[in-house]
Amino acid sequence: MRLFVLTGAGISAESGMGTFRDTDGIWSQFDPMKLATPEGFAQDPALVHDFYNARRQNLLEASPNAAHTALARLEDALTQRGGDLYLCTQNIDDLHERAGSRHVAHMHGELRKARCMSCHAVTAWDGPLGLADNCPSCQKQGSLRPHIVWFGEIPLYMDDIAHALEEADMFVSIGTSGSVYPAAGFVSEARDLGIRTSEINLDPSDNAYLFDERHYGPASDAVPAWVDRIVKALEARG
Ligand code: OAD
Repeated sequence: MRLFVLTGAGISAESGMGTFRDTDGIWSQFDPMKLATPEGFAQDPALVHDFYNARRQNLLEASPNAAHTALARLEDALTQRGGDLYLCTQNIDDLHERAGSRHVAHMHGELRKARCMSCHAVTAWDGPLGLADNCPSCQKQGSLRPHIVWFGEIPLYMDDIAHALEEADMFVSIGTSGSVYPAAGFVSEARDLGIRTSEINLDPSDNAYLFDERHYGPASDAVPAWVDRIVKALEARG
């Protein structure tokens, strides 16, 4: 079985990373136009750096939860049987990797990396990032930005993601509101390809009506329960 899993902020909510569009979400407290657009960064880079520095610090203090761990367990169970789990995340945290997932397509970038706007090198970055920093590759000062895909920019790995979706037998969306494209359109693409679709979320997402199966509850309960069912079905097949 080849599984395509899309995750969003909801899977990391119980790890303390915060979601975006819930009533107390990140975009209810901060203006995404100032903090998550190339124009916002051009206007006030220090403000944008401060925002992502705080989120990076939060991430370093966070740990994966039972939902991240269950997906890593599922990847193992599938690969042991010749199958595959393609994990595509909109999240910029590395909690999937820390839980043991081996291949993660971070379509919106990664918080623990910086990118040089001059030489385009991407560098691991765990400390605060600012205008005084030099790019470790080209040494230029003030040229580093968070390695995050902002509104108006093209998400990463789109060719690879499209290929994985075409190859999949099942599409599962976990912890995303289904309101940010292109990820929000994957369920329709999966349907067009004739792939079975499932949603796991706290509440029905904007796209809930497009899913064949729906499971609602906190990710740390709902994802391990769903993974248990899939693993049992795999074991029954032998
Ligand atoms: P949203 O904040 O839009 O949606 C989070 C979803 O998770 C909602 O549907 C919640 O109901 C659900 N949720 C909350 N807590 C949960 C829990 N404990 N268990 C399961 N589900 C839970 O986040 P995303 O859909 O990921 O982009 O947002 C997509 C993109 O918008 C993000 O990647 C980010 C943002 O702007 C960038 O920053 C580029």
